[in-house]
Amino acid sequence: MMGDARLIDGKASGAALRLRVAAAAADLKTRHGIVPGLATVLVGEDPASQVYVRSKGKASIEAGLASFEHKLPASTSEAELLALIAKLNADPSVDGILVQLPLPAQIDTLRVLDAIDPAKDVDGFHVVNTGRLWTGGQALVPCTPTGCLLLLRDTLGSLAGLDAVVLGRSNIVGKPMAALLLGENCTVTLAHSRTRDLPDLCRRADILVAAVGRPEMVRGDWIKPGGTVIDVGINRVPGEGEKSRLVGDVAFAEAKAVAGAITPVPGGVGPMTIACLLRNTVVAAARRRGLTAADI
Ligand code: GUN
Repeated sequence: MMGDARLIDGKASGAALRLRVAAAAADLKTRHGIVPGLATVLVGEDPASQVYVRSKGKASIEAGLASFEHKLPASTSEAELLALIAKLNADPSVDGILVQLPLPAQIDTLRVLDAIDPAKDVDGFHVVNTGRLWTGGQALVPCTPTGCLLLLRDTLGSLAGLDAVVLGRSNIVGKPMAALLLGENCTVTLAHSRTRDLPDLCRRADILVAAVGRPEMVRGDWIKPGGTVIDVGINRVPGEGEKSRLVGDVAFAEAKAVAGAITPVPGGVGPMTIACLLRNTVVAAARRRGLTAADI
């Protein structure tokens, strides 16, 4: 048997990144009198989304950012949401705008995302930022894949020439993750539910990023011995008795016995996502004014 994989500690890396963001925010305030502001928009009452939005607001305050939380009823029309976004686009105290997804069915998500000022698009979901990411421009980059990349760089150093398999083709994680890994000179395969011979494909991956939202789908024998596994999944499954528990898209105990390094769930990618959102907000605050934020 291979040894036991090294644990990639996203909680520690996320905390360290948040400290760097707080220092950069303090620097903007001291030198330029700027307090970066993040506006979050939550439509409806999805419990998981409520938790995410609340923790984004709390983390903003802790890093010295201003937080503006907007809650709209599930019945909100697309026109009403677009009117709020227009207001936030025009508000100079707002540097970042985050519309929590998913949105209710009556609202066209892509139309809403593309109404956000690209300079304030701290989720990096606007078509302009997507295009800049793929063409090498100065983009705001989606938070979860950025967090994954920072963990990979910490773990492996240079990624050049490595075989990377990204499982899942969402706009939020899979597609931007593939772009980032390509930018690091990996050979990238973007795999999904219709991919043939998925276990064989994954077994060739020096880097495996799992972002499919299927609890423990990736088994131990899908992992390349010594490979690096990043598990983006956060799935709530029934636990013992009344309790539920969180598991990733990777069967952790099995994979840990084969991999060289692996992220746990929770405590892996999750804490990096919020830290990257704060970082994007500070970067947006600086860039909008033609400044550069301190190196974070
Ligand atoms: N829903 C799931 N992930 C995300 C994210 O990264 N940003 C937003 N806005 N909504 C999400």
